[in-house]
Amino acid sequence: MSSNASVDLHTDPSLHPGLDVYAVAGNPIGHSQSPAIHQRFAEQAKQAMHYGRLQPELDGFAQAAKIFFSAGGKGMNVTVPFKLYAQAFADQLTSRAQLAGAVNTLWIQDGKIYGDNTDGAGLVRDLLAQGIAVHESRILLLGAGGAARGVIGPLLEHSPKCLVIANRSSIKADELIKLFANVAASKEVALEARTLAQLESSEKTPYPFDLVINATAAGLADESPLSIAAVVNIFTPSSFAYDMVYGKTTAFMKQALQRGARISDGLGMLVEQAADAFLLWRGTDLATQIDSRAVLAKLRS
Ligand code: ATR
Repeated sequence: MSSNASVDLHTDPSLHPGLDVYAVAGNPIGHSQSPAIHQRFAEQAKQAMHYGRLQPELDGFAQAAKIFFSAGGKGMNVTVPFKLYAQAFADQLTSRAQLAGAVNTLWIQDGKIYGDNTDGAGLVRDLLAQGIAVHESRILLLGAGGAARGVIGPLLEHSPKCLVIANRSSIKADELIKLFANVAASKEVALEARTLAQLESSEKTPYPFDLVINATAAGLADESPLSIAAVVNIFTPSSFAYDMVYGKTTAFMKQALQRGARISDGLGMLVEQAADAFLLWRGTDLATQIDSRAVLAKLRS
């Protein structure tokens, strides 16, 4: 595969005759754990496939994806910053991808490109695997960008007691509340917006949370979205703090630890969203043959 619009890291389907070829597309992509994760799933389920990396130019996702699928590529995972482009690229979206407003999994079937979003389901499965209840829980979701939007639907599906979305600026959180109002009502979940500043006041935020999920980009810059006053107001020692970032103990996680809360990074979410993508591509009947927690344990070791 030759393309000026992408850096092809051993992903050209014509280089792997007899194998179904998949790839993860992102920019940058060199650090991605996805090839290692999918290789383990393929070994566990005895699937002959190749999974590589693709790094399109920032404005070159559609061109790179077109070349990949035209050359025989079977499916693609999509990460930062291309999830919106992937949504536009798909001919048909699953309903959860429409609701998430982004696509992290593409595949081709009968010449048509399908798009789904497995991020939210991956988060929920990781939480449940860690023994963290979503049903009937008080949940605080920090952030109102693409990462937050992607997980709201699957969280609501599990009927928490309440879901509060808090963001620096209120506009984006208010928009998400409107977008998910019907789903929340159908599940009888109290869905509310706050600013981050409102988390500091026990009048505006009168109870602590069972589960606090950081979906802001603050951790990438080694910052926390929470002030000290907010930390005191929202965490108790029985809270669980989940950061979607993985590979480090973020400032947000450290704050939670100081309050005696339990913490998790987002590596399990990465593995679980990959498991769903793998099953979409290779067949849900393989679900009993893959062991995502063993893959996670291996990554952590
Ligand atoms: P993503 O797709 O990763 O969610 P995004 O759509 O750019 O990226 O959204 C980034 C989110 O992180 C937003 O909710 C943003 O808050 P604003 O809407 O107020 O910009 C939030 N964010 C980024 N840096 C932050 C910081 N230092 N503190 C608090 N929130 C931050």
